[in-house]
Formats: sequence, structure tokens, C-alpha cells
Amino acid sequence: MAIIKVTPQELTELARFLEKVRGIVIPPNKAYLVESRLSKLLEENGMKSYRELVDLLKRNPPKPLVDKIVDAMTTNETLWFRDSGIWEIMRDEIIPDLDRRIPARRIRIWSAACSTGQEPYSISMLIHRRHKEKRIAGPPSRYEIVATDISMSALFLAKVGRYDRISMSRGFTGQWATYKDEFFKTTGNTAQISNEIKDIVHFQRFNLSDPLTSLGKFDLVLIRNVAIYFSLDFKKELFRKIYNAMNPGGYLILGASESLRGISSDFKLVTRPRGFYYTKV
Ligand SMILES: C[S@@+](CC[C@H](N)C(=O)[O-])C[C@H]1O[C@@H](n2cnc3c(N)ncnc32)[C@H](O)[C@@H]1O
Repeated sequence: MAIIKVTPQELTELARFLEKVRGIVIPPNKAYLVESRLSKLLEENGMKSYRELVDLLKRNPPKPLVDKIVDAMTTNETLWFRDSGIWEIMRDEIIPDLDRRIPARRIRIWSAACSTGQEPYSISMLIHRRHKEKRIAGPPSRYEIVATDISMSALFLAKVGRYDRISMSRGFTGQWATYKDEFFKTTGNTAQISNEIKDIVHFQRFNLSDPLTSLGKFDLVLIRNVAIYFSLDFKKELFRKIYNAMNPGGYLILGASESLRGISSDFKLVTRPRGFYYTKV
């Protein structure tokens, strides 16, 4: 694949377009990132320059093409039980609280940028382990995990639930190692996640710039390591929508290096020695 050079003017116009339609910020010093990630897409669409792309986007942006650009410009980087501390808090505090507080209806969890599935499957494993430890008969079907992402390729891998050696080497360390033994079947170089873990996870393509009303209400929302790509205005609007999509007493979890400071004051911050979360009071 040949790298196609982007001019400063084309970069400015592309960045302006992406911020307007998807809230994605591309700083002016990221020309190399655009070139390395989008040249292939240009080639696939028979375009010889970024000018052709920018003109098309301005005239009549085809939605699938815009989605592919967003997909290419954001990374699908993820791992099992990412940021260990918050998973201990989920296991020891949040899931037991939801279990106790919501005895009579479905408990709904949203993994809002689930990438290749490690995040929603890690939650499912926590729930299954707890269910077994409490010796409750049958599957934990009271739980529903809605896992969404904009990337079709990431969602495809997530739905299949088969992971290569590199993916399996990331995150299953220390106290999390036993989950790998319990919930995967390894054959050769790949490991297949078990059907019981998959059964309560429902994958769906969803763009975070769309209204959340179609997804229903949630008791726990994980939106981790995705807001970093968005403009301040987009983040403010996104967390306002998330607040409205949560049940009272619901939990919100961000990435370990993220915060709602300057973005939303609707949620209550709860800090623990091992991490932090927000609640809707
Ligand atoms: C770095 S991964 C984070 C995965 C996981 N949440 C974690 O923390 O390990 C970011 C994900 O956000 C998705 N994403 C980016 N922009 C999005 C948008 N507008 N709507 C939905 N998902 C988006 C990407 O496709 C990618 O899979």
C-alpha cells in the first residue's frame, strides 16, 4: 500500500468534517496518523488524493464511508480485566449491590465501546463466577449485557469470541488467571470463549453520536478509553445522554485515566483505594 500525503488544507477540512459529524478531534500535528491509517481506504475507493475524499465528504458523505474513516482513526486496543482495580470493585461492590438492590427485574449493563469483546466478556465472567460461588441454579439470565461499538470488524471478532495467543496473553494475570482456565477452550493457537459467557452478551453496532433512546435504561455503564477521541462539546452531550439513559442508583465507569471534570457535574464521584466510579443519585 502506498502512503498518500495529506496537505495541511486537506487535513484541516477533514478534521473539521469529522468533528462536526462524529465529534472526533484530529489535531493538526497528526498528518502522519491520517496518512498511515486512511491511505488504504483511499486506495480501496479508487481515490488518488485526500482532496477527492474531502470533496466527496463535503458534497454527499456516504454513511458507510464515514464510519470506515472513524473506525480507521480510532484504535481497538483493549484487554481482559483492563485496569485491574476497577474489576475488583465491580466484583466486590458493584455487582453484589445491583444483585441485592434489584431483585425483581432484569439488571442491564452497557459496554459502550466494547471493541473486540474483552470488556463485556470480562463482566460476564465476573457474573458467572459469582453465580457459581453462590450456588444459584441455572444461568444468570437476570443479567443482560449490551455491548456496542462503531467498528464492524471489531464487533465481528467479538461475536465469534475466538482469540489468538497475543489477545489471550493480555490481562489474564494474577487473580484473573483462573478465569481463562474456567471459561475458555484452547485449541492450538486460539482460545474460544464458552457459550455460557456469550449467552448474556448482546452485540450491536452503535455510534455514540446517535440518540441513546433505542438502547433502553441501564444500571451499569462502562464507557472506557473512547471519549479521548471526542471534542469537549461532544463529550458534554454524550454524558448528558448517558445520564438520561441510566436508572437512579446506576453506576458509571470510565477508563482509569479519564474523568468527568469539566464535562459533567450530574454524577457523584465515588473514590476507593483501588479505583473510582460515578453514580447517578
Ligand atoms: C480503545 S477502544 C476501548 C475498548 C474498551 N472500552 C477498553 O477500554 O478496553 C475504543 C473503541 O471505541 C470505538 N469507537 C470510537 N468511536 C466510536 C463511536 N463514535 N461510537 C461507538 N464506538 C466508537 C472504537 O471502534 C474502539 O473499538
